[in-house]
Amino acid sequence: MFLKALRLYNFKNYREVDFIPDPKLNCFLGKNGSGKTNLLDAIHYLAFTKSAINPADAQNIRSGEMQFMIKGFFSVAGKEKEVMCSFQSGLKKVVKEDNQDYVKFSNHVGKYPVVLITPQDIELIWGGGELRRKFFDTLLSQIDAHYLENLISYNHHLKQRNSALRRFAETGSTDYQLLESYDVILAKTGTYIHSRRTELMKEFIPLFKLHYRLIAPESAESVDIQYRSELDRQPLLNLLKNSIHRDILLQRTSVGVHRDEFSFVMDGNELNKVGSQGQQKSFLISLKLCEFEVIAKEKAIKPILLLDDIFDKLDDIRIGHLMKLVAEGRFGQIFITDAREDRSMQILHESNLAAKVFFVENGNLKTNGENSGR
Ligand SMILES: Nc1ncnc2c1ncn2[C@@H]1O[C@H](COP(=O)(O)OP(=O)(O)OP(=O)(O)O)[C@@H](O)[C@H]1O
Ligand SMILES: [Mg+2]
Repeated sequence: MFLKALRLYNFKNYREVDFIPDPKLNCFLGKNGSGKTNLLDAIHYLAFTKSAINPADAQNIRSGEMQFMIKGFFSVAGKEKEVMCSFQSGLKKVVKEDNQDYVKFSNHVGKYPVVLITPQDIELIWGGGELRRKFFDTLLSQIDAHYLENLISYNHHLKQRNSALRRFAETGSTDYQLLESYDVILAKTGTYIHSRRTELMKEFIPLFKLHYRLIAPESAESVDIQYRSELDRQPLLNLLKNSIHRDILLQRTSVGVHRDEFSFVMDGNELNKVGSQGQQKSFLISLKLCEFEVIAKEKAIKPILLLDDIFDKLDDIRIGHLMKLVAEGRFGQIFITDAREDRSMQILHESNLAAKVFFVENGNLKTNGENSGR
């Protein structure tokens, strides 16, 4: 699967662009703020029906305009597929595949898988547990539409249950029947989420360790990911029943898969406490490449790889290892952004890689066609 053509209308800082990427390797080069990441974000929209950067669709409309549209033409097993995503202020977002509307966006996610590596990934290590859950949820959502449906339902009913708990505290009367009805749905969806997370980690952890060695072969440290859930000990329905009085007191749901923990571990300690900057970067790249590998295996489609400012964040050795993987043809289509034209050109040249290079300038794209690194 690869993106054959991309068209944008009034998306972020683009008025109208239309371009044809290379099926293999593409570079977006241009100054800071020129719109390189926005192009990756447009591709992310087509995959996930939402931005990776700004979840408020309205703010992704070009300033002063009323509507944005992103159109992607994909090649899937030799056939052309058209995906369109548009949003008009005040209206519902529309996503279409070959001119057919989706009733549920969750039916679309995963059809055109994408793995994004960005400087913000560092938050996975430093940020709260919800970001690590989101990482694994994003991965599972791309390989299992049923997972995404369960997750949407779980989050929806969790919100409802929490607002009911707050309402009960205000009014001083508790509707136990209503809570029980939420508990049944939360238990059903939460149990599925927990079982899929558990299954995934069995596959993911050994593969992750392997990738860490690929990216940092000279390293001596041991790495690990630990998954912990209250559901490991007891079924969720029991947990919810047992915590009902505490929940009423706290005015929120204190047990469930929204509290599951994924810990990143190095030499037996938390990664953010002991890992050097370089080790943390290797950890993140390994996570993402492992995500790529799992999706490629589960779906038999190589995801599109979006590498935002990757050269900025890696030292020469790690760039070398990564480019070696690229040159070996391990990936499918790749999009790389870089604000430093000379550096990217040099890396392509040194890795003996040919790429299509796009020069981005204030929402305009120019290409010099095929840039041969060879
Ligand atoms: N809704 C919008 N309307 C108009 N412009 C927007 C909108 N949203 C974002 N932008 C503009 O897009 C630009 C940022 O684009 P982007 O993040 O793609 O830059 P970049 O080339 O990746 O820069 P860097 O090298 O610093 O990462 C900013 O100038 C920002 O003002
Ligand atoms: Mg950027």
